[in-house]
Amino acid sequence: MSVAVLLLLGLGLQVAEGRRDRCFFNRTQEFCVCYNLSEETMGSIIQCLPATVVEFWGGDLEKYAAFPIRDPDSSVIDTLGSLIIQKVVIGNVLVPEALLARVLRFFSYTHVRELAFESCIFQGTGDWSDMDGRSLPILSLSFHNVTSAPPTGREQAFSSLSSWLGTLQELAVTSSHLSSLPCALGRKLRALRSLDLAHNSLWDGSLAPTFCQGAFPQLQQLSLQHNSLSSYQGVCEAVELLPGLQHLDLSHNELTAAHPSSSCQWPPSLRHFNLSSTGLDEVPTPLPPHLEVLDMSHNHLHAVDISLISLKKLFLNENLLQAIPSIRNYPVLDTLHLDNNSISELPGDEVKLLGRLQDVAVADNPFSCSCSGAGGLQALAAAGHLGQGWPGGYRCHSPAQYRGWQVARVPVSLLRCHLAAVVAPLCVALALLAVAGAACLARGRSCRRA
Ligand SMILES: *[C@@H]1O[C@H](CO)[C@@H](O)[C@H](O)[C@H]1NC(C)=O
Ligand SMILES: *[C@@H]1O[C@H](CO)[C@@H](O)[C@H](O)[C@H]1NC(C)=O
Ligand SMILES: *[C@@H]1O[C@H](CO)[C@@H](O)[C@H](O)[C@H]1NC(C)=O
Ligand SMILES: *[C@@H]1O[C@H](CO)[C@@H](O)[C@H](O)[C@H]1NC(C)=O
Ligand SMILES: *[C@@H]1O[C@H](CO)[C@@H](O)[C@H](O)[C@H]1NC(C)=O
Repeated sequence: MSVAVLLLLGLGLQVAEGRRDRCFFNRTQEFCVCYNLSEETMGSIIQCLPATVVEFWGGDLEKYAAFPIRDPDSSVIDTLGSLIIQKVVIGNVLVPEALLARVLRFFSYTHVRELAFESCIFQGTGDWSDMDGRSLPILSLSFHNVTSAPPTGREQAFSSLSSWLGTLQELAVTSSHLSSLPCALGRKLRALRSLDLAHNSLWDGSLAPTFCQGAFPQLQQLSLQHNSLSSYQGVCEAVELLPGLQHLDLSHNELTAAHPSSSCQWPPSLRHFNLSSTGLDEVPTPLPPHLEVLDMSHNHLHAVDISLISLKKLFLNENLLQAIPSIRNYPVLDTLHLDNNSISELPGDEVKLLGRLQDVAVADNPFSCSCSGAGGLQALAAAGHLGQGWPGGYRCHSPAQYRGWQVARVPVSLLRCHLAAVVAPLCVALALLAVAGAACLARGRSCRRA
C-alpha cells in the first residue's frame, strides 16, 4: 500500500479510475497482493486498506524517477496514520534509487514495521538528504536477490539515514552478490540485533571492514552461511569485537580449522554455533566455551573429543565417526544426533548415559548386531529415546547372519545374550571341582578319611 499510495500521492497524480483487477485481498489472511505497480494500480488498491501485509509484484517505476514530490498535507498524514499495514513487500520491481530516496520519508507517518525487497533492481544512486534527522517506524529491513550500486562510498547516504538506521533491529541482505558492508554502515546500526548475510560473496578479506571496531554494538544473531569464507580464525577475529553475539551461522563455507596455537577468543556470549557443511575434517579450536547448541553435521570428522559443560544440543550427523563421543563431557546434554556415521556399537556404559537424553538419533550407521549392540539400541528405543528413524533406519551390518536386518528384529533373549555371563562362572566352578577331585585322587586315603 504505502509505497504506491505514497508514491502516487507524492507525485500528485489523480487517482484515476484504473483497472480494478490488479490487487487481490485475502480476508482470512489479512493479506493483499498487487501486480504491476503503476498509477493504474490505484483504482484497485483501495481494497488493500484492511490488510496488515501488502505485497507489490512486478512493475517499473523508472518513469517516475524525476517526478516532483510534494510534502504531504495534514489529511494525507491522517490517512497514512490510520493504515494498519505492518509489512510491505516489493518484488520484481525496478526502483530508481532517486525515487526511493524521496519517497521513504512518507513511511514515517505509517505504522509499517517491516519492509522487504525481493528480486528488485535499484537503479542509479539517490540524494538522501530528505531523510536528514528523520526516523521511521521500520524495524526490519530485508533485501533478497537485489541488484544495486555497491554500498561502499555511501557515507553521505548513511549519514542522512542515521536517525532511522540507529533504531533498525533486523537487516537481511541475502543472495545479492554482496562482498562486504562498509564500516560506516555498521557503526550507524547501533540497535541492530540480527544481521543475515547468507548466500553472498563474502570472503576472508570482507570481514575486517564489515566488522570494524564499533560496528553493530548490539548484534546478537549473525548468519554468514553460503559465502566464500575459509579462515576459521579470521571469523573468530572479526566477531571478537561483537560483545553480545549469541548465534553464529557459518554453515556452507569451506573452512580450514584454526592453528591450535590460535589466540583468538570468541565472544563469551556465544551460545549457538552452526558449522554444518563446512568441510571440516577435525574439530576446530578454540570453540566458544559456553555453547548450548553446536551443529557440526555434514563434515568429515573422524573423532570428536571435546568437552563443553553448557552444551545441550550436539549435531554430528553425516560425518565419519566410528565411536560416539563421550557423554560424560557434556553434563547437561539433551539432544545428540549421530545419523549417517560409521558407528558399529554403542558401549554399554554410554547407553546408560544416552538414556538420560531426550532426543538421540543414530540411524544409518553400520551396526554390529551382537547381543550388546542390538540390545543397547532396543533398550534405548523401548525407553522412547530414539527419534523418528527407529526402526526403519537402524540396520545390522554384522554379523553375517543378521546383515541387512532391522536392529529391532534381532532376537535378544536374556539366555542367549547372557550365555557368556552364565557359562564363565560355571566353567570356573567345574574347573575348581576337577582340581579338588584330582587332588583327592592323588592323596588317596587321606581324602577318604576326611
Ligand atoms: C487466502 O490464503 C490462503 C492461504 O494462502 C488460501 O488457502 C485461501 O484460499 C486464500 N483465500 C482466498 C479467498 O483467496
Ligand atoms: C502485468 O503485466 C504483464 C505484462 O506487462 C501482463 O502480462 C500481466 O498480465 C499483468 N498482470 C496483471 C495481474 O495485470
Ligand atoms: C533474481 O532477480 C532477478 C531480477 O533482478 C530475476 O530475474 C530472477 O529470476 C531472480 N532470481 C530468483 C532465484 O528469484
Ligand atoms: C545449521 O545450518 C544448516 C544449513 O544451513 C541447517 O540445515 C541447520 O538446521 C542448522 N542447524 C541448527 C542447529 O540450527
Ligand atoms: C543418510 O544419508 C543418506 C544419503 O545421503 C540419506 O538419504 C539419508 O536420509 C540420511 N539419513 C539420515 C537419518 O539423515
